[in-house]
Amino acid sequence: METAKLILEGKTYELPVIVGTEGEKAIDITTLRQKTGYITLDPGYGNTGSCISEITFMDGEKGILRYRGIPVEQLAEKSTFVETAFLLLNGRLPSQKEFISTSVALNDYSLVHEDMQIFFQNFPRRAHPMGILSSMVNALKSFYPELDNTLEEANKTYLRLISKIRTMAAMSYKISKGQKVVYPRPDFSYCANFLNMMFDSPVKPYNVDPDLVQALNVFWILHADHEQNCSTSAVRVVGSGRVNIYAAISAGIAALWGPLHGGANQAVIEMLMDIEQSGATIDEVVKRAKDKNDDFRLMGFGHRVYKTYDPRAKIMKKMCDTVLSKLKHNDPLLDIAKRLEEVALTDSYFIDKNLYPNVDFYSGIVLRALGIPTNMFTVMFAIGRLPGWISQWKEGAEDPDWKISRPRQIYMGENVRDYIPLNERK
Ligand code: CMC
Repeated sequence: METAKLILEGKTYELPVIVGTEGEKAIDITTLRQKTGYITLDPGYGNTGSCISEITFMDGEKGILRYRGIPVEQLAEKSTFVETAFLLLNGRLPSQKEFISTSVALNDYSLVHEDMQIFFQNFPRRAHPMGILSSMVNALKSFYPELDNTLEEANKTYLRLISKIRTMAAMSYKISKGQKVVYPRPDFSYCANFLNMMFDSPVKPYNVDPDLVQALNVFWILHADHEQNCSTSAVRVVGSGRVNIYAAISAGIAALWGPLHGGANQAVIEMLMDIEQSGATIDEVVKRAKDKNDDFRLMGFGHRVYKTYDPRAKIMKKMCDTVLSKLKHNDPLLDIAKRLEEVALTDSYFIDKNLYPNVDFYSGIVLRALGIPTNMFTVMFAIGRLPGWISQWKEGAEDPDWKISRPRQIYMGENVRDYIPLNERK
């Protein structure tokens, strides 16, 4: 077995090397502190593997993303979101029978307890839907307390979550508009049901368009998992304290909300709208993004892992054209986005730092075309990411050695000093 040698204070330590199935290499430092008294320091965890996982493989240099071994491009072209969710959760594609039973279960669990509507109605009208979603998912434990340990019961919980999150998202939108909630329909697929719950109304019945349903399938497939990103790590860290799954997922939703993570899809559209309204030139925008003294960043650009074009962004960009041409709709923001990309990709600042469009750069344009309001964009990301979060939580929960997450630190504060009574202080 290959080992890494570490020399500390004149002493040599051998540490095991682990090689993943795709050739990824790691130095196993599990016993480092015990053997040497040292810890490692890695703010932002850019060099730290927090777990061994069989779910998703990414190669940031080559722009590869696979769920359970299957390239995301193939899934986006041939699969559905429900099938992809099954794949992530179970490690394999479903049989025909399993696919049907999963779809039936998703329909069976799609209603939300009527009492939950009271919560939705009492959030302030301006509340951000991500805050509402995170709270409501946490509240599910009170309404559905039974979280049995048998495999069958656990599977019910996973599907219940996947089904209800979609109903709750559409419900919060309808309530925020002051409109009547539309109930899920058993004759519709997962994605069709969502669009119908969002947009159907007694005065204007919604026509479910199969091309838009397909676009939504692709959108959610592209978001379904992304290994140990910020929100998934939140789910794993919170879950490792053995909280119930709803609480762990609620933590993931809260983490996703941030503009450096899932909140970037909303931030991209706001940035593009700003450019359109202010009349700023693309060169001016790019100059600001490069300015160290300006907080402004090109939203939807850059990624911790991808040092090349995000494979999801490639598919999303193509989908923008498909959806807009289907709707015979010309979105000026798409033009701005394409020009921005062109300029950034030939600018040495972006080239040298390997900054390419990420999934969020074009996704907002697709969502806008589907009619989704901007403040719901990150909720759309959350619905898509849910099967990934559950799969990652499940992998932890099924590991007999799942350790509570508890990183260390290097203390740089005051050395020991005495307490001064209040009356002796100035
Ligand atoms: N615009 C301008 N400069 C950038 C950008 C950007 N979008 N992203 C990174 N940089 C610069 C950054 O200023 C830094 O420069 P320097 O080395 O001179 O200090 C360098 O590139 C490295 O950036 P970093 O912030 O240290 O890199 P990171 O790996 O910690 O952050 C990121 C990754 C995604 C948070 C960052 O690229 C970013 O803020 N992007 C914009 C927000 C965004 O689009 N987020 C969505 C990510 S994809 C969806 C998801 O999975 O969450």
